[in-house]
Amino acid sequence: MQIEGLDEKLLPRHVGIIMDGNGRWARKQGKKRVLGHQEGSRVLKKIVKSVFSLKIPFLSLYVFSVDNWKREMEETSFLMKLIGKFYQEEFSDFKKHGIRVIHSGIYDNLPKKVIQILKNIEEETVHNTAGTLNLCLNYGGRLEIVEGIKKLFQDIKTGKVKEEEIDSKFFSNYLFHPEVPDVDLMIRTSGELRLSDFLLWKNAYSEFWFTDTLWPDFNEEELFKALKDYQNRQRRFGDAK
Ligand code: IPE
Ligand code: IPE
Ligand code: MG
Repeated sequence: MQIEGLDEKLLPRHVGIIMDGNGRWARKQGKKRVLGHQEGSRVLKKIVKSVFSLKIPFLSLYVFSVDNWKREMEETSFLMKLIGKFYQEEFSDFKKHGIRVIHSGIYDNLPKKVIQILKNIEEETVHNTAGTLNLCLNYGGRLEIVEGIKKLFQDIKTGKVKEEEIDSKFFSNYLFHPEVPDVDLMIRTSGELRLSDFLLWKNAYSEFWFTDTLWPDFNEEELFKALKDYQNRQRRFGDAK
């Protein structure tokens, strides 16, 4: 796909999106919050397709955080059903387009059915190479790091790892899906200017792009705008050039 003003050679390798504002979108229309999620899932499907048709290799989506369990049961159980439905509806499309789907997060508290769907979709798409969709569901950035520390601690205890070997590159192998590179471009909708515990480690040098648009109103044009802005950023990684 060719987009005016967008240089295909300068696309980010890894895009992250914090899809925020579903509840406010619904409230603005005088509807229940859950209807915002329903609308949001429609947008999600379209944006996933746009990102991969641009041949961006990695897309991470913040679907549900470990802190989102603080919400009313009505909302969390609706979200779980919606997530299950999303996977089932999109499954064949992912397979058809060679998209690998992975899950970052923990299984605790997730409904059995959702866990089963997650495992199944990961297994069935494991050999796909056209792009990787990293669904961060029941995810927390601090939790990911703490889980990594626990795994590393075990390896130290059994003598598999020596303290001298540990540096940030080495440690990153203990995080969820080490094959997913650092985030290049991080998009957040709805006007909030924060990370909310999303991919803390992999966002170390990412470029941030914020919009006031609520997620259910987000579209391809805005995605392209974010990508164009990204192409004009100067990334230095601490260097002085
Ligand atoms: C993002 O929208 C979706 C999830 C967190 C699952 P919100 O539900 O946070 O919407 P607002 O921020 O309340 O408007
Ligand atoms: C982050 O949004 C989580 C997701 C988009 C899934 P929140 O709406 O939960 O974040 P806060 O509470 O505004 O920081
Ligand atoms: Mg929110």
